[in-house]
Amino acid sequence: MSDLKPLEIVKELDKYIIGQDKAKKSVAIALRNRWRRQHVSEDLRDEIAPKNIILIGPTGVGKTEIARRLSKLTDSPFNKVEASKFTEVGYVGRDVESMVRDLVDLTVNMLKAREQELVQEKAEIIAEERILDLLLPKSGDPNIQEGHGTGTLEIVTSTIETPSSTREKLRSMLRDGKLNSRYIDLELTDRSMPMVEIFSNVGMEEMGINFKDMFNNLMPKNTKKRKVKISEALKILIQEEAQNLVDMDNVVKTAIEKVEQSGIIFLDEIDKIAGKESGHGPDVSRGGVQRDLLPLVEGTTVGTKYGIVKTDHILFMASGAFHVSKPSDLIPELQGRFPIRVELDSLGQKEFIRILTEPKNALLLQYMALLRTEGIDLVFEDDAVEELARYAEEVNAMTENIGARRLHTIMECLLEDILFDAPDMEVKKVTINKNYVETKLKDIKTNEDLSRYIL
Ligand SMILES: Nc1ncnc2c1ncn2[C@@H]1O[C@H](COP(=O)(O)OP(=O)(O)O)[C@@H](O)[C@H]1O
Ligand SMILES: [Mg+2]
Repeated sequence: MSDLKPLEIVKELDKYIIGQDKAKKSVAIALRNRWRRQHVSEDLRDEIAPKNIILIGPTGVGKTEIARRLSKLTDSPFNKVEASKFTEVGYVGRDVESMVRDLVDLTVNMLKAREQELVQEKAEIIAEERILDLLLPKSGDPNIQEGHGTGTLEIVTSTIETPSSTREKLRSMLRDGKLNSRYIDLELTDRSMPMVEIFSNVGMEEMGINFKDMFNNLMPKNTKKRKVKISEALKILIQEEAQNLVDMDNVVKTAIEKVEQSGIIFLDEIDKIAGKESGHGPDVSRGGVQRDLLPLVEGTTVGTKYGIVKTDHILFMASGAFHVSKPSDLIPELQGRFPIRVELDSLGQKEFIRILTEPKNALLLQYMALLRTEGIDLVFEDDAVEELARYAEEVNAMTENIGARRLHTIMECLLEDILFDAPDMEVKKVTINKNYVETKLKDIKTNEDLSRYIL
């Protein structure tokens, strides 16, 4: 995963995103540089600062999509955030440091899940033993006699056997799933503490302390006995044992190292925090957010519940439409920290045709799959697709250019009736031709006001 070559990264992105070659290329290089840096000798590694990127392009041309796909392609810790969510420290809202804390959280969870997977087999063995212990309390305990108390023994045999052979019999029954529907008593730790949750969310964030965890450890563990099916109990115990087997200290250490050395933060919609400060309205805090952001990008330390994290080598990618503001409206220090600027192209009919049909998750394929669940074959003729794309381009030009997003609204309009009637339709094959597209969309398009609201 982590060592995809730039060409391979671009190829992966090509499966979902049409065009935008420059942007794909530069993010692919950036991703590869994360990996390269890991392999540089240690003394030089510290000197290599990340080259942050800004993707600039109108709405709906694939900026966010690139970020989403990229996050799945990399083994580096990756967090995508909306810049507009953040506010200056002291205002109500999220402070910018939380993006680093989230990145650490994400990474810890990811590594933990990975470790748990590795110890799964061990956990299964231990869990099985624990179930057997519950079914058949260990011999040697004088208080418990076989065949009494647990009430499970009679299912094995009524003749007297040695405990170990009984255990083996039970074990094989357990493995064959013969005991699955039986119930046993299980001690469960009760982890829900809603009261603590409520106040830990208010204003405590910047302290980076997880109150829930803290209280969980302070308070006596709340255990309760529950009757559960053995199949269920097995799952619970495997989960519990897997958690116990993972060395959390090590997971946390690795996670912090990974974040510091190869973390990536994608700041979507950064243009929303750019702009001249007008002195009134919500603008006031924009400059503030930028000023808060600057140290993160330049390199600082952030306290998280897992420890201090240095941000010097975290790579920042940003994206924005910059319709109203320009990159030059960002505070100069911040501009300087994003040396790579890539422009994305706006999209027209040619691209829309490809977007409708080519990506793995292409819109047309989605509708076809949806209707197939009702037993209906939906077919699009080529000239119908061309016509749809032409409509999209025209409406974009006429009203507001929202890029490929326009395709979503147009498709909904086009297929509304079919989607509604599908369950009761007699015909099982629907062909969408150019004529159908024209009649469906004609009225809406010729009326500009209508298209402004509907499409
Ligand atoms: N170049 C493209 N190729 C394929 N789909 C695209 C492209 N550009 C946009 N889309 C589709 O349009 C929608 C909006 O794209 P998005 O990336 O969120 O736009 P933005 O550039 O405003 O962040 C998504 O559903 C995405 O799949
Ligand atoms: Mg976006």
